[in-house]
This record gives sequence, structure tokens and C-alpha cells, in this order.
Amino acid sequence: MEAKYVHIITMGCQMNVYDSEQMERLLAPMNYVPTAKLGKADLILVNTCSIRQKAEHKMYSLLGRLTRAKSRKPELIVGVGGCVAQQEGYRLLKRAPHVDIVFGTFSLRRLPKLVQQVAEQGGRLVDVDETPTDEPTCLKPSVSQEKRVTAFVTIMTGCDNFCTYCVVPHVRGRQASRRSEIVVEEIGYLVNKGVREVTLLGQNVNAYGLDNRRGCDFSALLEAVDQIEGLDRIRFTTSHPKDLSARLIKAFGRLDKLAAHIHLPVQSGSDRILKRMNRGYTRDYYFEKVEELRRICPDIAVTSDIIVGFPGEQDTDFEDTLDLVTSIRFDNLFTFKYSERLNTSASRFSNKVPETTKSNRFARLLETQTRITLEKNLSLVETVQDVLVEGSSKKNNDQLTGRTPCNRAVNFPDGTARVGEIVPVKIIEAFLHSLRGRPLEAHTQRAQREGGILHAA
Ligand code: 5AD
Ligand code: SF4
Repeated sequence: MEAKYVHIITMGCQMNVYDSEQMERLLAPMNYVPTAKLGKADLILVNTCSIRQKAEHKMYSLLGRLTRAKSRKPELIVGVGGCVAQQEGYRLLKRAPHVDIVFGTFSLRRLPKLVQQVAEQGGRLVDVDETPTDEPTCLKPSVSQEKRVTAFVTIMTGCDNFCTYCVVPHVRGRQASRRSEIVVEEIGYLVNKGVREVTLLGQNVNAYGLDNRRGCDFSALLEAVDQIEGLDRIRFTTSHPKDLSARLIKAFGRLDKLAAHIHLPVQSGSDRILKRMNRGYTRDYYFEKVEELRRICPDIAVTSDIIVGFPGEQDTDFEDTLDLVTSIRFDNLFTFKYSERLNTSASRFSNKVPETTKSNRFARLLETQTRITLEKNLSLVETVQDVLVEGSSKKNNDQLTGRTPCNRAVNFPDGTARVGEIVPVKIIEAFLHSLRGRPLEAHTQRAQREGGILHAA
């Protein structure tokens, strides 16, 4: 069968990155080979995000640009998947006449059939049916996952929390955990292909297994993954503070492979706003959890998400958020201006915050956190960090790049380290987004004794 080419454009979060890889895996038996060149593609898939309005706008402007590709090559098939597809369905077909397939978040596994039908019979199809297709076995890694050191593995889909601002439960449905044997099997395949670090993904990984009650909760899953031979590091995201169990906190002191980093979105430092957000915890509770984590694992990096300008947020609420940020001193923070989303409860709340107020609060928060992030990075200078080498640095090909357990990017001179290897690196300079280091001499000498240049592509 002649090879055909698929070009996938991924917007949004890591879960979409994983889903796009799934698309590659699912289309491989139909002889679709991934291509980075849009012009070469027979099939273009856009995997969309609807978490904030900005992401949705970006998607529509991208779709506009794809009109040209379609007019140049009329047999080209254009598919739109992911969260916006799920939400918009037929409306998307109307808005974008050059789109052939709209497939939602539940229909990923039906994608090959949809593509085949359009390729053979033409026409335009929408599948936003909310019945998921069963997952009988795990899929082997896709071509683009080969020769990779790190990989994402989704362990659960959907979310039951209904935070009042969030569109996720509306576009990804109820929480559904994948079977732990399938997750472990999939990671095993990835490790065989050279992957050394996995990030387990879910909207709320701490609630893993609670939907199907098969006896394996998230801590038990972590323990099973920790046993996989050849795997060096485990990360996970995202953790909901309300479900952060004592057992999971202890796992940071117990499991060797678990990297010392937790992403624990707090969203606001004001109890009043946390309540309106339906987050299910208070600021004191959040402080306690961070304290417990730091007690068990003093080096742990704690990162978070915060939304400013949630409906009803007053100056005093925002001051509470700033106070929480300066007291906790996150290693890094993702800050967002509240964006109204379709069908969410908060979209019906009164007391919307004016855009200028949101922007001012956003700027103040960012300024505060920028200072803290830089100070935290500077505190790593002179320390030795175990860096998992991921490849050449994008900016400077003479340098290798990798990450510390606490998830800082480190660039260091090439020479002896192998991609996929964990190298002790002394940190010599710190910036806002990365660190610069020098591999420890002991490592360099050992590597040289074992035979010269070890840097693989
Ligand atoms: N507006 C702004 N930020 C949002 N997030 C989720 N929904 C919204 C929204 N409607 C942020 C939250 C979440 C992160 C992934 O995106 O902080 O943790
Ligand atoms: Fe959205 Fe809340 Fe679920 Fe996270 S936990 S996906 S913020 S509803």
C-alpha cells in the first residue's frame, strides 16, 4: 500500500499531545506516515483546545489559513478534533467549509473509520457522539515517539469536579480511568523504545481509580510504574489539592523514580473565591498540604496555576492570592486571566471583573512570581543536579539539554553525555527559564574511559 502523509497540529495541553500521538498510532495501519511538512500532507488534523477563549480564537485563525492548502490540493482531507470539535460539532462544519471531518474527544478511536469513509466516499462527517469506543489493548508507540527520552501517558480521561470556571467536564465528559495493566504495558513498550521518563496525565490524577473501584488507586499505580525496569523517572500532572492523599505525599519519600516535583494548582488564595470556584478546599488546607510535601521531600519543587479576575474577585481577594504566592514561594507559576467559557456555571455569575482590572492583577502577579522564580533558580547555583539528557539544545547545537528532577531545564556543554543518560551536572548560572551547568568531572572522566564521544542524535 502506498504511503500517505498526515500532518497533525496540536494545540493546548499535554493531554492533547498524547491524543495526537494516539491519532498517529491509530492511522499507522492505514499507511499514514506523520510528516512535519504541511504541504506534503494528504490528511491534516487539528487537535483543538477550548480551555480559554484565546485558544479557540487561535484555532479559527489557523483553520482560516488552511483554506489555502485545501484549494491548492482539493483531495486533501482536513479533520478537526479535540475539545472545540466536541463543543461545536456541526457549527464548526458551517463555520469552516473546507473542513471534512469534525471528531470530538470521545471519537478518537473511530478516527480511522471516519477518514476511510471520507477518502472513499467523499462527503463531510461529524462524530461528537459521547459514547467512547472501548480500549481493548494499548497501542504501540507511534513513529514520532521512537528515539524519544520522555513521553506522556494518559492514565484517565474526563473530570468530575466541575470547577465553576472550567469547560473540561463539559467537553471531555466524566472521569474514566484506564486499566492499570494497560498503562503499565504501554509504559513498558515506551521503555523498550528508549523512553526513560514518563509523565502520567489526567485532569485529576489523585482521583485515579476512584471511578471504577478496581482496587488500584493512584499511589498503587505509581508503585506499579516504579517497578518497571529501565524506566528512570516518573512525573505526573495534574494533581487536585482536595484529593492529595497522605499515601501519595509519602510516595515522594519512598519511590526512587518519582521526580521531586508536584504541580498543584491552587487557582486562588482567597477562601471566598475558592468556594465560588467549587474547588473543595481552603487556603489553610493548601498551606498544610505544601508543608507536608516539603517535610517528606525537602527538595520538592511545587508549581501551580492561578486564575485572576474570577467573577466577584475583589481587591482583598487578589491581595490574599498575592500573599499566598509570596508565602508559599512556588518554583514556577502559570497565571491566567479568567476567560468565560460556554455552559460553565461561572459564565452565569454576576460581578464580572473588568478587563483592565484583570490585566493589572495579572501584571502584578506575574511580576511577583518572576522575582520568586528567578530567586529559586539562583538558589540552585553551585548545587549538583541529576540531569536526564533529552537532546541538543534548540538555541545552541553545541550544548546538550535536559531536566533536573525538580523540572528545571539545564543546558550544558556537549562532549561526553549520552541522550537518555542521567548526568550529574554542577549548576553555574541561573536564568528565569533555564539553568546553565557543567557536567561533573567524575562523570566526564568515566565516560571518556568508556570510549569517547557518546552523544547520540
Ligand atoms: N479561564 C482562565 N483560566 C482557566 N483555566 C481553566 N479554565 C479557565 C478559564 N475559564 C486554567 C486553570 C487550570 C489551567 C489548566 O487553566 O488554572 O488549572
Ligand atoms: Fe477543570 Fe477543575 Fe476538572 Fe481541573 S479539576 S479539569 S480545573 S473541572
